[in-house]
Amino acid sequence: AERDAELKERLLQLKKERNAIILAHYYQRDEIQEVADFRGDSFLLAQKAASTDADVIVFCGVHFMGESAKILAPNKTVIIPDERAGCPMADMVNADGLRKLKAQHPGVPVVTYINSTADVKAETDIVCTSANAVKIVNSVDSDTVIWCPDKNLGHYVQQHTDKKMIIWEGYCNTHDMLTVKDVEEMRAQYPNAEFVVHPECRPEVVAMADFVGSTTAIIKYCRESDKQEFIVGTEDGTGYQLRLDSPNKTFHFASKFLVCPNMKVNNLKKLVKCLENMSPQIYVPTAVADKARRSLERMLEVAG
Ligand code: 13P
Ligand code: SF4
Repeated sequence: AERDAELKERLLQLKKERNAIILAHYYQRDEIQEVADFRGDSFLLAQKAASTDADVIVFCGVHFMGESAKILAPNKTVIIPDERAGCPMADMVNADGLRKLKAQHPGVPVVTYINSTADVKAETDIVCTSANAVKIVNSVDSDTVIWCPDKNLGHYVQQHTDKKMIIWEGYCNTHDMLTVKDVEEMRAQYPNAEFVVHPECRPEVVAMADFVGSTTAIIKYCRESDKQEFIVGTEDGTGYQLRLDSPNKTFHFASKFLVCPNMKVNNLKKLVKCLENMSPQIYVPTAVADKARRSLERMLEVAG
């Protein structure tokens, strides 16, 4: 605890010296969310990165999030606590694979989930996050779209749009782990609880939910609901903001496997160290960044 206090003090000092802002995703460890200047889901964090006037963005999340921040704020320095914090879903599609799919469907626009690499975003017409996926797909001027990389979110969107979606087969290792059996067992144990779920979960699990939404939408729903008890079908870091917003409500995570190991690679010590060393930094080649920026900015225009 004493060590933590020292680290926090050093962090405050460095933040001031560097004119830095600390952004943290809701799936980060509590010790990081606690010291962040701004917490959010993927969409809110992208918006914040695009609009901040800090000189340095410290992005606590996974690699594609830091990359999106750098693309949206090319003149700022973007640093991350550990460059090994990646997202396996983002690595399930690459630019070459996407180009091949595009060649099979000439002229069909591509909607890409923000959980993707800069190279893939550069091959994309418009990016979306789980908070705006349906809205973004519906906004595209075409009756068919190519969708990548999350098949589960893609399936959810397909149920809420008349457009035909050509869906890539990627998925989130963490959310995809939650099963119907897990939820049935939790419901038997907590019969008064509502089940809230992230659309990265499997379709049959999403079909069981009382509420489906992005991390921010889940937090808001639980805060505003009259219910007192919830079974939560998303990553366990979300508990930090859920409990902060709704201190008198009870939250049961639907499975002990709802922990994203990539998100947990970051910790307070590494956060302070990266600001100390101004490294690791995110670099995106200009040609890629310029193309990827268009697809990200289109999302901010449509969904902002
Ligand atoms: P949101 O931040 O859009 O809820 O997405 C969840 C996620 O898996 C981020 O990696
Ligand atoms: Fe990727 Fe899933 Fe982890 Fe999000 S929770 S970073 S989608 S692996």
